[in-house]
Amino acid sequence: MAIIIKTAEQIEGIRKSSQLAAKTLKHLEQFVKPGITTLELDAIADAFIAEHGAKAATKGYKGYKHATCISPNDVVCHGVPNDYVVKDGDIINIDVTCILDGYYGDTCRMYEVGNVSDYAKKLVQVTKECLRLGINECKPGNHLGNIGYVINEHAVKHGYSVVFEFCGHGVGIRFHEDPQVDHVAKKNTGPVLRPGMTFTIEPMINAGKARCKVDRKDGWTARTIDGKLSAQFEHTLLITEDGVEALTDVYGDF
Ligand code: MF3
Ligand code: CO
Ligand code: CO
Repeated sequence: MAIIIKTAEQIEGIRKSSQLAAKTLKHLEQFVKPGITTLELDAIADAFIAEHGAKAATKGYKGYKHATCISPNDVVCHGVPNDYVVKDGDIINIDVTCILDGYYGDTCRMYEVGNVSDYAKKLVQVTKECLRLGINECKPGNHLGNIGYVINEHAVKHGYSVVFEFCGHGVGIRFHEDPQVDHVAKKNTGPVLRPGMTFTIEPMINAGKARCKVDRKDGWTARTIDGKLSAQFEHTLLITEDGVEALTDVYGDF
């Protein structure tokens, strides 16, 4: 499969879908508080997406049933919403992918619930920095591998490890397109970035070991093998003529 270079019209569609996914995460902020279950949070996201004329791409995807993935604490990614009750001190990732007018936008972020330890706060901060450093490598002519190179370098510098079992991906016309975006990679390897490419960068950074194990009961929820914390941020990016646009950045942070 080749990397799809999007047309101006497709880019506009992907931008709108990306903005809706990001607005959904923003809308959820007021609800991510102690006492709510992750299933209730999923229902709020599902309703918000529907009200805006879109659908969650995860619903029905390979048998997945929910509008979001919600991954607290040692859950790395693909946390299935359930009766888990959010509690003070949790760090929680919510990941949303919208389909709006046939176009896909994919994003996730961390929420810090109440009094979070400095240990957890630092992991969240460094993970966000990893995404930012990866985005800085997004410009025409640069190799895709440089994204994973800088992410891994930064994580390791802080004593963390980078998950290699899940990757970023091309996105826009379909949920998962080429290229695969590795968060650990060698300098100046992989495809050369060109204007019109759209893909995600979504580093998962672990406080302990890099390895994950998938929950045998629900078949999705991936946890750290050692029970230590994991954090993740994700943006959908567009390579432009002179650099990059973070299509899911409604906060203007990136
Ligand atoms: N949104 C996730 C990603 O960033 C994919 C979730 S697939 C699911 O690629 F089936 F687990 F929901
Ligand atoms: Co993604
Ligand atoms: Co995602």
